[in-house]
Amino acid sequence: MAKPETVSETNLVNLKLIHRGKVRDVYEVNQSQLLLVATDRISAFDCVMPNQVPRKGEVLTQISAFWFEKLKEITANHLITTDFEKMPDEVQQNTELKGRSTLVKRTKVFPVECVVRGYLEGSGWKDYQATGEICGHKLPVGLKQCEKLPEPIFTPATKAATGHDENIDENRFAEIIGEENAHILKDRTLKIYKTASEYALSKGIIIADTKFEFGLDEDGHILLIDEVLTPDSSRFWSVETYSPGKAQPSFDKQFVREYLETLDWNKQPPAPELPAEIVQATTSRYLEAYKLLTGKEL
Ligand SMILES: Nc1ncnc2c1ncn2[C@@H]1O[C@H](COP(=O)(O)OP(=O)(O)O)[C@@H](O)[C@H]1O
Ligand SMILES: [Mg+2]
Repeated sequence: MAKPETVSETNLVNLKLIHRGKVRDVYEVNQSQLLLVATDRISAFDCVMPNQVPRKGEVLTQISAFWFEKLKEITANHLITTDFEKMPDEVQQNTELKGRSTLVKRTKVFPVECVVRGYLEGSGWKDYQATGEICGHKLPVGLKQCEKLPEPIFTPATKAATGHDENIDENRFAEIIGEENAHILKDRTLKIYKTASEYALSKGIIIADTKFEFGLDEDGHILLIDEVLTPDSSRFWSVETYSPGKAQPSFDKQFVREYLETLDWNKQPPAPELPAEIVQATTSRYLEAYKLLTGKEL
């Protein structure tokens, strides 16, 4: 059988599905390992689209792997391998997983989202407009939408099982995970962002904000987990088109969003079908993001 062009959902018979996210399917491999499978699903306006984007799962998998390697001096991480040939037989039996799977160390996840913002957009922009601050950070008056902040700020959030994550201040953050962990996670989040955003900027990509997750491994070490610094977990903008004072084109999803805005759709599921040219253009954007960041063709 030819390899399918896209994967919308995986249903492995020999591994236990423990979670299905908007994009990724998570399986238990054994007590100490998980398999993160990036499908080609795409969401926009918080809705999963009916069509898939060829190569998206592969790109997301490889972008995270790239960052784990690049950032390994700054933070330990959960990555075991993305090399399919090195995975356990139970995984390799499912050939549709090749290229889109990450074998990771299973951790006890800290129930918080470690968000860092270098620019003012999204819920940060909303909070700023309402209160002049974000998560307890007082900001200068008169900042424009998408403007670069004087300093990147740590703006944690709760991990809501359903609905939207809620922004919290650092006191609440420390109450949830403990003072010591709070200090480490904040410090690491800011360090990772600083290194990664400076690197990305040198390659033409602004990482306006991003979200990290951390977990504890069997030995009590704090690991960076989940996906990292992908266009799905971050706002990527092109340096070339950046201009504050309005919303920025999204590096990866702009064609999808612009198309959806032309429709009379209320942004509630079910989402409408995307035309082939929008899907193709989106694949190209993901491949371009990979190439800009890594300097390699996928
Ligand atoms: N090493 C790990 N150990 C335990 N859980 C992990 C690990 N890495 C990622 N996860 C969990 O996997 C889940 C991925 O699901 P989700 O974020 O809902 O998917 P998506 O990003 O596709 O919407 C998250 O709940 C995340 O905390
Ligand atoms: Mg996620």
